[in-house]
Amino acid sequence: MKMLGSIIKANNEDLFPENKVLGVGGSPRKNGNSDVLLRHVLKGVSQKNIECGSIQLRDIQFQGCIGCEKCRKDKICTGLIDGMTLTYSQIITSKGLVLVSPTHNYNITSWMKAFIDRLYCFYNFQNTRPRAWSSQLAGQDRKAVIVAVCEQENKKDMGFTLEAMRTPIEALGYQVIGEQAIFRVFDRGKIKEDTESLERVFTLGKTLAKSLI
Ligand SMILES: Cc1cc2nc3c(=O)[nH]c(=O)nc-3n(C[C@H](O)[C@H](O)[C@H](O)COP(=O)(O)O)c2cc1C
Repeated sequence: MKMLGSIIKANNEDLFPENKVLGVGGSPRKNGNSDVLLRHVLKGVSQKNIECGSIQLRDIQFQGCIGCEKCRKDKICTGLIDGMTLTYSQIITSKGLVLVSPTHNYNITSWMKAFIDRLYCFYNFQNTRPRAWSSQLAGQDRKAVIVAVCEQENKKDMGFTLEAMRTPIEALGYQVIGEQAIFRVFDRGKIKEDTESLERVFTLGKTLAKSLI
């Protein structure tokens, strides 16, 4: 395991941020509203000829952070070898990030929370108490957009969903240049009928792409 840790570390050290976008979908529901929204954000990105890729967190086998702190030394997660191990390279090399999550109990889904927790490995900490910290991803012109969708009517029903994505990725060094909250959508894929919301998230994607050029 020690040797594997060194290999993972060395491979990631060679990577640098590029003008491309990674979309991350946090819904467990395939072809649900978040999937449709993520596709439309990325369509907007592609329209500006910016390369993009995407992952659906439900499709990768990964665990939440276990707090082993191996990343303090290795600067990347070496304590867990799972679906996130390969995903880190996509995060490091994509200056643009799109996070989309449905509201589950006034918050992001547990998939999105586990994903964000696994970004903990990008922090540098000093030995003070509380530990002074910085992010390895900061100062690299990283930009992000976030989208949340829920069944009920308003911000109160959506709870912390946007905030739970915005606050940690800002701490990591992303500038959140736009966000969209979408209400009153329950049935799988129903958002396809809401052309206004789709147009809004498409524009969000274009804005993200423009910010990277
Ligand atoms: C476990 C669970 C919890 C939910 N909690 C909320 C909630 O707190 N507020 C709300 O408005 N909608 C809530 N919803 C509804 C979803 O946010 C809504 O159906 C959304 O459109 C699902 O998006 P998806 O198709 O991308 O999964 C919940 C749905 C599930 C399955």
